[in-house]
Amino acid sequence: MPAIGELLNSGTARLRAAGSESARLDAELLLGWAIGADRTTLIAHSDAPVGADASAAYERALVRREAGEPVAYIRGLKEFYGLAFSVDSRALIPRPETELLVAEAEHEIAWRLTAAPRPAGTPRLRVVEAGTGSGAIAIALAAVLRKRRMLPEVTILAVDNSADALGLARENAVGHGVAEDVVFTEADLLPDGEPAFDLILANLPYIPSAEIDRLPIAASFEPRPALDGGPDGLVVVRRLLAVLPAALTQAGTALLEIGFDQGPAVESAVGELPGRWECRIQPDLSGRPRLAHVERSANRASATGAR
Ligand SMILES: C[S@@+](CC[C@H](N)C(=O)[O-])C[C@H]1O[C@@H](n2cnc3c(N)ncnc32)[C@H](O)[C@@H]1O
Repeated sequence: MPAIGELLNSGTARLRAAGSESARLDAELLLGWAIGADRTTLIAHSDAPVGADASAAYERALVRREAGEPVAYIRGLKEFYGLAFSVDSRALIPRPETELLVAEAEHEIAWRLTAAPRPAGTPRLRVVEAGTGSGAIAIALAAVLRKRRMLPEVTILAVDNSADALGLARENAVGHGVAEDVVFTEADLLPDGEPAFDLILANLPYIPSAEIDRLPIAASFEPRPALDGGPDGLVVVRRLLAVLPAALTQAGTALLEIGFDQGPAVESAVGELPGRWECRIQPDLSGRPRLAHVERSANRASATGAR
């Protein structure tokens, strides 16, 4: 029987030859998945023998990875905001940079719930996520609000125009015990006939169409409509911006993930909205401008220093 260390070395060499830039990590994640152990255990027991079933599962996983399939789809799992999400080809794999959007949403909600007294009968805050995919953003937000005992004061809706993605999102909501707390709806951008929202969250497709085929091969396993933002990448984002005046409450905020070079174009689209609006672009953890905060100008003036 081959030892863990041998399988890791041979798998790493194969994946490197196949073009993976994270060959060692991929091999560790795939062998760990095949054995049912975490990476630390693999490293600590590199001489331990691996049984036939696990070796065969690892071999099948290596073949898929050599063909370019993302590790997350092979394992069926991706960590996001400290939670494990089921992932498959029905929806985009949640990216680490999107955790900033959840953190800011959590911050906005906590601020709104604590900045002023909320006498009994105060309506719940209304939050919607447009383009929920695997449900990662809405579900991670519900989970953290539950931990902070804020969930009873918040209503969370999550929308996608892909029935397949919504199926996966509902499964994830069940898995994280928030199926009763997040309402999933199939719609174009936002659900019809809903009252205005206090918070609109969106990580909509924003890759320019011509760039999609130049992305690493792993992206070709993800649903194209989850990535393709039209000629300049901002077609869907602009459609959402256009409905903000009707969809956001007076004091509402929209948090939109965008491409690192799209800030000026998004600021200019916000400048064309009727009324007075502001757009602040926040950098992600690597310092790249990635999160647009969009709200009516009066809000920011009244909130200056408070957030
Ligand atoms: C970039 S993915 C983001 C998925 C998930 N929110 C995340 O961050 O991992 C964009 C999602 O928006 C959905 N989408 C694209 N256009 C849409 C539209 N017009 N209305 C609703 N959802 C849309 C896609 O199906 C996809 O699930």
